[in-house]
Amino acid sequence: MSKPINLKILLESKNLERAPFPIPVGWFFVDFSDTLKPGELRNVELLGQEWVLFRTEGGTAGLSDPYCPHLGAHMGHGGKVCGEHLRCPFHHWEYNTEGWCKSVPYGKRKPPITNLQPILRTLPVVEKYGMIWCWHHPACEAPTWELPYIPEMEDATGFAGNRRGSWTANTCVQEIAENGVDTAHLKFLHNAPIIPPVEASYDGPVMTLNIGQGYIVGKSYGPGLNVLRFTQEGVTATMMSYTVPITKDKTQMNMSFRHVAYPEGTKELYVSKKIIDHMIGAAEGEESAGFESVDFIVWNNKKYRPNPLLCDGDGPVIQFRQWFKQFYVEAPTFSPNVANPAPAEAA
Ligand code: FES
Ligand SMILES: [Fe+2]
Repeated sequence: MSKPINLKILLESKNLERAPFPIPVGWFFVDFSDTLKPGELRNVELLGQEWVLFRTEGGTAGLSDPYCPHLGAHMGHGGKVCGEHLRCPFHHWEYNTEGWCKSVPYGKRKPPITNLQPILRTLPVVEKYGMIWCWHHPACEAPTWELPYIPEMEDATGFAGNRRGSWTANTCVQEIAENGVDTAHLKFLHNAPIIPPVEASYDGPVMTLNIGQGYIVGKSYGPGLNVLRFTQEGVTATMMSYTVPITKDKTQMNMSFRHVAYPEGTKELYVSKKIIDHMIGAAEGEESAGFESVDFIVWNNKKYRPNPLLCDGDGPVIQFRQWFKQFYVEAPTFSPNVANPAPAEAA
């Protein structure tokens, strides 16, 4: 008699999901700083909702929930930047970049809570590397780490390269990030000549990777920023990737490529550019297929296997997933009391 087979293994995929995770905690790219002038405001979609992105007259960038805490107008449709505040179009209540209500231009008393706490959800925003970044925490907690110093992006001289790109994948950030430790796929999906060895180490929100004994060395700073340095023939080029969830199963991947500003005509400059072409998957005469062409086919169609059947040639997928778990926090839920609204504060 043949042995009974494990039907769960055969049937499990029906019940799997493509992106079974909430939107993670972390710093995320919003847009390039030079796209937002003082006094400007626009609607952006990221982190599973719409936001109003604005820059005050004084130059501070803000990212606000669109719906006014007063009577719910969408401030990205008709709202305005007034000095340092975002002004709602409906009754001209004004908010600062931290979500405090700073002005109610009529009535004798503001609701008392406006003196105690912000009433509009805004995300902490910093500008770094010529980009606007926001801190996402589902329970509105303050940042627990800072964005790192990246010399290639921040030193005024010494580095060059303005190639960058933006791609959208129909999956979650974790599935994309898992590629970093899944070195076996480099050989089979990308046609790399070998499966490079990978060493990964983890320290709080930072994961350090060394792929191919120094060929690719880099760090992930939470789920939204990776800096990888590729070294060939003694020349290093840098890929900075900044990934932002648009929704829980749609992710925008952005990358900037930089290298040392070698003089024109040097071999080093040639090699730097070749490495960058290779990262993008566009190097002439190379067999290797860059992520643009092939990873997306996988990401856009796969399901997440929480209990994968791994073999000894696989990279540290499970350790990576353990590390990534720290970025998941469930959002608190509240049900609005529609039938019995809170009474107005007594005079
Ligand atoms: S709804 Fe925004 S001020 Fe009234
Ligand atoms: Fe890949």
